[in-house]
Amino acid sequence: YHIDWDETSAEKSGYKHFMLKEIMEEPEAIESALVGRVTLEGPVLNELKEFNVERVEKIKLVACGTSYHAGLVFKYFVEKHSNIDVEVDVASEFRYRNIHVDDNTFVIAISQSGETADTLESVRLVKRKGAKVISISNVVGSTITRESDVTVFMNAGPEIGVAATKTYVNQLIVLYILGMHLLRMKGIWNEELQRDFEFLKQAPEIFRKILNNIDLEEISSYYKNYHHFMYIGRGINYPTALEGALKLKEISYINATAYPAGELKHGPIALLDPTFPVFAIAPKDNLFEKTKSNIEESKARNSRIIAITNESNKELEKIVDDIIYVPDSPDDMYPLTISPVIQLFAYLIADMRGYDPDKPRNLAKSVTVE
Ligand code: G6P
Repeated sequence: YHIDWDETSAEKSGYKHFMLKEIMEEPEAIESALVGRVTLEGPVLNELKEFNVERVEKIKLVACGTSYHAGLVFKYFVEKHSNIDVEVDVASEFRYRNIHVDDNTFVIAISQSGETADTLESVRLVKRKGAKVISISNVVGSTITRESDVTVFMNAGPEIGVAATKTYVNQLIVLYILGMHLLRMKGIWNEELQRDFEFLKQAPEIFRKILNNIDLEEISSYYKNYHHFMYIGRGINYPTALEGALKLKEISYINATAYPAGELKHGPIALLDPTFPVFAIAPKDNLFEKTKSNIEESKARNSRIIAITNESNKELEKIVDDIIYVPDSPDDMYPLTISPVIQLFAYLIADMRGYDPDKPRNLAKSVTVE
């Protein structure tokens, strides 16, 4: 009698890979990120109580990789609802720039591991210039938590897969709460923000629904043999396109590039032909009509088009080749609802191509050297 069992497969709780397990853990991860931060009065981050957040006029956000994409979502969100300027940069650039900080500038450094060398150097640089640094991390006791003024933990639990999945989702959750807390402290609140906040409270349930119902196997199989991909998105979902492309190239080794949809015409559209599919992030938000015409332009070049949109929007059915629906969500929240889809798509393609998504070649979970 033989039981096929080893420690690693036990840790994967029956899932083929950590990456899949960690995507499926997103509902619980979100729950943990919301604990204590969702109150009757509204969104609260107690970690910031020592900070005069009502004073903040400028935010400089620094991060690498997936964390950088989460930072970009924060920029679109906060700038839409306030006159705070948010600048986002990758740490390997930020640390060599001449960064100006004053009393009304906050620096936010995002690092899941808390050990990324370029992000840590960026923190040190702005601290020397007298800035206050808020870090966002998943690892208690990591270097960034010791070197920043305060840390907001994302509470996603350990992530083993090299490609960030549940930690990206939790970064978004924490950044939305941080943004809402900041806006509220500055006296900014409105119906739209209230709807966004209600959505966050229901996010674990919404994610459960998405993850229980989604079936991407067939769609992914149509795309697994392409050599190139063009991800497009606009506004708050431009970072979603960036993250979708990053996931795909990290683990499936397909050359995926992401562009703001409106930038296609300034060069990249020249690449499009039947060998070059387009992955459009196209929820029915205030920019949908614009993205839709970019999809039509791409279709005219005979690219195969796969699109993600929301359930009640049937406008793309006749235009695109493949369509994935996510629940209708407030405009600001689509980066969240769409995340598990772009992650699962990349996961399935990597697996179908025979690669181990947990251990992509040439990549490390945390990059502690420059
Ligand atoms: C590495 C990982 C990426 C990650 C980036 C930033 O490159 O492979 O998945 O997004 O580091 O990591 P951090 O721990 O600073 O968020």
